[in-house]
Amino acid sequence: MPHQRPMITTRHGRSAPAPAWRLRLAEPRDEALLLRWRNDPAARQASHQQDLVDAAVHMQWFARALRDPERQIFIAELDGQPVAMARLEREPGGHQLSWFVDEAARGRGVGRRLLAEVLAATPGAIRAEIKSDNAASRRLAASVGLIAAGECHGICLVVRP
Ligand SMILES: CC(C)(COP(=O)(O)OP(=O)(O)OC[C@H]1O[C@@H](n2cnc3c(N)ncnc32)[C@H](O)[C@@H]1OP(=O)(O)O)[C@@H](O)C(=O)NCCC(=O)NCCS
Repeated sequence: MPHQRPMITTRHGRSAPAPAWRLRLAEPRDEALLLRWRNDPAARQASHQQDLVDAAVHMQWFARALRDPERQIFIAELDGQPVAMARLEREPGGHQLSWFVDEAARGRGVGRRLLAEVLAATPGAIRAEIKSDNAASRRLAASVGLIAAGECHGICLVVRP
């Protein structure tokens, strides 16, 4: 029997196949996409470093990141379109995690699915820093089991011990 995709109910009440989900590692062709996401106003607002990142600086950073065995960048796709990213950086005792969901894909469970899969695939301790006023990311972190471990200077630390 052919494999059938799960069905969802659209906002018009019709049945439609659920979009195909795929999680993959970033590749050289993602350079422009990741620069666009890095310079997205919400990403800058949520970031420690709020300046616009220059394309040449990004190109060098991304080339290093792709070669760095201590760093993994995951891209989530729906029906072949990139919708979100998560970045894992190894650090003493575990990994630091950060994430971003494309504006058009927000509020549909993409962030939760992305983080749940990355957490499931990554053994050991995980830590993420979220600005205290970033209610969406704090709720997302809680929804995948990351525990609030303290708050300092407007940054909330969430962990999987
Ligand atoms: C924060 C962000 C990652 C959330 O991703 P998302 O795919 O929209 O989130 P989901 O749809 O998977 O929702 C996960 C949880 O977050 C909550 N949430 C999502 N958007 C929210 C919002 N704007 N306000 C409050 N809660 C929100 C959902 O209700 C859900 O929680 P629940 O299960 O308790 O209902 C996304 O909005 C984003 O990338 N924002 C801009 C950049 C950013 O903040 N990056 C992270 C820096 S730490």
